[in-house]
Amino acid sequence: MKTIEKVVKDIQYRFPEGFWWGSSASAAQTEGAADVDGKGKNIWDYWYEKEPNRFFNRVGPQTTSQFYYRYKEDIQLMKELGHNSFRTSISWSRMFPSGKGEVNEKAVEFYNNVINELIEAEIEPFINLFHFDMPLELQKIGGWINREVVDAYVEYAKTCFRLFGDRVKKWFTHNEPIVPVEGGYLYDFHYPNEVDFRKAVQAGYHTILSSARAIKAYKELGQDGKIGIILNLTPSYPRSQHPADVKASKIADVFFNRSFLDPSVKGEFPIELVEILKEEGYMPVIEEGDLEVIKNNTVDILGINYYQPRRVKAKENLPNPEAPFMPERYFDHYIMPGRKMNPYRGWEIYEKGIYDILINVKENYGNIECFISENGMGVEGEERFRDENGMIQDDYRIEFIREHLKWVHKAIQEGCNVKGYHLWTFMDNWSWTNAYKNRYGFVSVNLDNNAERMVKKSGYWFKVVSEHNGF
Ligand code: BG6
Repeated sequence: MKTIEKVVKDIQYRFPEGFWWGSSASAAQTEGAADVDGKGKNIWDYWYEKEPNRFFNRVGPQTTSQFYYRYKEDIQLMKELGHNSFRTSISWSRMFPSGKGEVNEKAVEFYNNVINELIEAEIEPFINLFHFDMPLELQKIGGWINREVVDAYVEYAKTCFRLFGDRVKKWFTHNEPIVPVEGGYLYDFHYPNEVDFRKAVQAGYHTILSSARAIKAYKELGQDGKIGIILNLTPSYPRSQHPADVKASKIADVFFNRSFLDPSVKGEFPIELVEILKEEGYMPVIEEGDLEVIKNNTVDILGINYYQPRRVKAKENLPNPEAPFMPERYFDHYIMPGRKMNPYRGWEIYEKGIYDILINVKENYGNIECFISENGMGVEGEERFRDENGMIQDDYRIEFIREHLKWVHKAIQEGCNVKGYHLWTFMDNWSWTNAYKNRYGFVSVNLDNNAERMVKKSGYWFKVVSEHNGF
């Protein structure tokens, strides 16, 4: 394996001592055991039962990669691949089958085992509390639209801090909180599949409030770790420097990045966003004291998920006044000629985007401590890349990671406070409506039985990079 030998001989990109090398995952996508040991249903279990055709090849979340049963072996494999940290989430509906009330002791036992096993393997657990998986009973009362759900979430968060906070020192309140808003209330790719901008705004607002209230609770409990949020920051690039294109890209940035980034890090909403919401008549219901809580409980650490840029141009046509309100009323998406694509996922690959985000965080967000919490390449039909020994030769993934890491390295050289890089994901997993279409892992999983794992070439490459703290 030439690439690996080269890494050892000639390290050009050395990362700071203690850099976090690892990967990320989530509960619903890996655990399986969806109705085992008292777990309640979440929206994914329910939506799949109702509309299996909405999922690629009609594959649902019931079994996924069986991490629930195989976590020991998986964690050993992480160790073997040089992980010093790993992020996953806790399933709210496993902890509280109906979202609130009595905690499920079987869930506590499982998460204790996972956390202990990680620590034993010298892999730091980074634990996220919400990764798209609203308990069904809480969705029935409106999910993030309903303030009672914020209260239930804070109770759930406190329970997790109390039970696991002695060993978990990096907590995240949400992963990509804008995605359930977009998927559930604007663009029809998450349950409850509504198209309603007013609900989208309220759901987004309550999510931010829930994050601030969880941070407040964490501090009040006197916990001594760090608590943050994981955001998908998708830089908005204008088609040209024409003022109309630039304006369009700024508005897209306000809707899709700053809407969550500003309140999470600065404790306030962007004025530009508030102005649009006021003008269009979509301000959310805000209760007295909320803004104070948001102001005073910002994050200690920021996780950055980066996959693709957002290219934007000024609107070509007047919008249909009768169509549901969408952020796209203010801009059009722009398809740049000659862009580099990941054809399987349909996403542009633009490595410099990761650097632009980090510089923005450095210059405009107080250079807050951050890390790359997701980055990765989903490829369909990877079986065709298996060699005679059964190893998937995913050189494209190695190149993808390496090219992004070069930009992360440059950002570090320029003073960005970026502490680590986690690939999405450790092993191939079930990915919402895409199910098992695109594979992202360092490790493949035999999908006939969700059992045997086989390390891909990228997994061994990453091991060497992590062991040498560079490449
Ligand atoms: C991220 C999510 O946005 O993208 C993950 O945090 C998800 O949960 C990943 O699996 C890849 O998404 P997709 O749609 O390509 O499978």
